Amino acid sequence: MKPSRPRRWIAAVATAAACACVAAMAMAQGVPATGAQAQAEPAAAPVAVRYLDLRRPEPIHGDAAAGKAKSEVCAACHGVTGTATTAIFPNLAGQRAEYLYWELVEYKRGAQPESPMTPLATGLSEQDMRDLAAYYASQQRQPAAQDPQATVDPTLAEAGRRLFLNGDPDKGIAPCQGCHGPEALGYPLAAQADGAHLSPYALYPALRGQQSTYLQSRLNAFQQGTLLDSTNDMIMHGVAQRLDAQTIESLAAWLSSLPP
Ligand code: HEC
Ligand code: HEC
Repeated sequence: MKPSRPRRWIAAVATAAACACVAAMAMAQGVPATGAQAQAEPAAAPVAVRYLDLRRPEPIHGDAAAGKAKSEVCAACHGVTGTATTAIFPNLAGQRAEYLYWELVEYKRGAQPESPMTPLATGLSEQDMRDLAAYYASQQRQPAAQDPQATVDPTLAEAGRRLFLNGDPDKGIAPCQGCHGPEALGYPLAAQADGAHLSPYALYPALRGQQSTYLQSRLNAFQQGTLLDSTNDMIMHGVAQRLDAQTIESLAAWLSSLPP
């Protein structure tokens, strides 16, 4: 049986020394405090932002010369001008500053705790990330140190080319070029800002001539959902669900074999 309202009010005041303010407020409003209000509830924790909303990113500006000076520590893996030293590290040269910047932010947030980038990015300031992004964006794309064309299987690469350009409707694979551009240099209209001068497509990365092992590990991470820190990661998570080991291998073979 439900207690009548006055009884609940009395009980609330009697038990709620810690909640005198609640009861007082309720009384001031002429409303009896309910039992639920009278219980000492912990203050609501602020809702943690679980992922980055990258749907309307602002243009990123940095000082490329300052970025070059700060890039010494990066060169061991990404090369002096942003062409990686081995296939496990990504090339950064010629990638858009917006994309590079937000990748650094994700590492700094700890999106991938296992990555060697996590401790490195933790020490970067906001200005460092903008300068480094501007520096690598300003660099020319170069052929990889070890020419991947020397080893790539042409049948595999051809399968990758077809998938990239046409997708595979039977397997539900979207054509990658729809977002990464027919030349795999990123979304073709990325530079065109929308009405609010924000360019959502600036964050669709170039894949042309990217390192093969890196491409495969990245696609595996999207597929397995271990890389789900932003709205853009979610896009690729969806795309990658339709891929398997063979399609990933063929896509990486073709993309890495393209001249820069
Ligand atoms: C010890 C090797 C190493 C060093 C040094 C290093 N990186 Fe990286 N970097 C990696 C690896 C490995 C990845 C990709 C794998 C991953 O996500 O864990 C990566 C990824 C990146 C990416 C994302 C690229 C993409 O296509 O998404 C950016 C941007 C980047 N690094 C910038 C930097 C900058 C700037 C520095 C110097 C402050 C630096 N890295 C130093 C190994 C390194
Ligand atoms: C609907 C748009 C869309 C389609 C279709 C798409 N991508 Fe992506 N892709 C993105 C976005 C956005 C990102 C950036 C994700 C991030 O922030 O890390 C991305 C990132 C990537 C990366 C990571 C690049 C790097 O430097 O780390 C790879 C690899 C990739 N895509 C491969 C593919 C392949 C292969 C296909 C076709 C099977 C494809 N994508 C189809 C939107 C798309």
